[in-house]
Amino acid sequence: MAYGIGVNGEIERCPSDKLKGKVAVITGGGSGIGRATAHLFSREGAKVVVCDINAARAMSVASELVAGNKEAVSITTDVSSEPAVESMMQNVKDIYGQIDILFNNAAVILPKFIEQIENHEWQRVLGVNLSGVFYCTKYALPYLKSRHGSIVNMASMNGLVGQMRNPAYSATKGAVIALTKSLAVDLAPLGVRVNAICPAGVMTPLLEEWFQQQPNPERARSDCDLSHMMGRIATADEIAQLALFLASNDASFITGQAIPIEGGATLGYGVGPKPEWSRGGGGY
Ligand SMILES: NC(=O)c1ccc[n+]([C@@H]2O[C@H](COP(=O)([O-])OP(=O)(O)OC[C@H]3O[C@@H](n4cnc5c(N)ncnc54)[C@H](O)[C@@H]3O)[C@@H](O)[C@H]2O)c1
Repeated sequence: MAYGIGVNGEIERCPSDKLKGKVAVITGGGSGIGRATAHLFSREGAKVVVCDINAARAMSVASELVAGNKEAVSITTDVSSEPAVESMMQNVKDIYGQIDILFNNAAVILPKFIEQIENHEWQRVLGVNLSGVFYCTKYALPYLKSRHGSIVNMASMNGLVGQMRNPAYSATKGAVIALTKSLAVDLAPLGVRVNAICPAGVMTPLLEEWFQQQPNPERARSDCDLSHMMGRIATADEIAQLALFLASNDASFITGQAIPIEGGATLGYGVGPKPEWSRGGGGY
């Protein structure tokens, strides 16, 4: 990655074609981290398949890429549906003839105390966040194998440490990390690498949704910033950079890893300001 000085004096990364000739499927590509990654992969030369359950969002991101003279398509898919995922991967094969990168990024949240979770809500979170990774991997694998491709799974720090009122989501993210390691063992001999990304807070519509569900959203936002040693949460672009590294040949000897990208959120035992919720029994 080369760097340049932008018109306003800011440091800009110059694309270096790290993904030239590659086809990348990004689930949940219509928003947040998926959208930022779609733009970055595209700038790095990939043909990008923007997959999302929300057709308008998927089309909007693919259109942004095409407007920048890049190759991209949108495919509307619910990753929790096995037949839908099978047909999506077949469509990608028909359109581009190959799949080199699978970014399993789509997920939903369910910020509730366990006694308040209905079974259908629990099943939905497992269906999207965990079964979605299984289906996409299963049906992309025949193509990934023939290209010695790379799978990047979006986990979370929630899969490594606990978080209040988020048991269903956390369980799926822990399972994604275990799945990543297990698949890395099976797929290494086939030339396919599998890694996971574990962010803490990232400013996206998903986190904004969580803030808005708190009794005091502004307080929740400020506490979230302060719970990271760096005093802020990540941008979607910062997470996209890690996805690029893991997807590219720069990470050619890295597999089976769950990599935290968390601004010091899990550092500093006993120091720093404690958010109000940690003193008040878990509620704002
Ligand atoms: N934002 C954070 O703080 C944070 C932290 C850690 C991990 N993550 C993870 O990053 C990933 C992206 O999250 P984000 O913050 O960008 O969220 P986001 O809500 O902005 O984007 C998620 C996208 O996934 C799509 N989606 C939801 N269900 C789907 C389904 N069944 N099939 C296909 N697409 C579906 C949504 O329509 C949306 O466009 C998720 O896996 C999330 O768990 C986010």
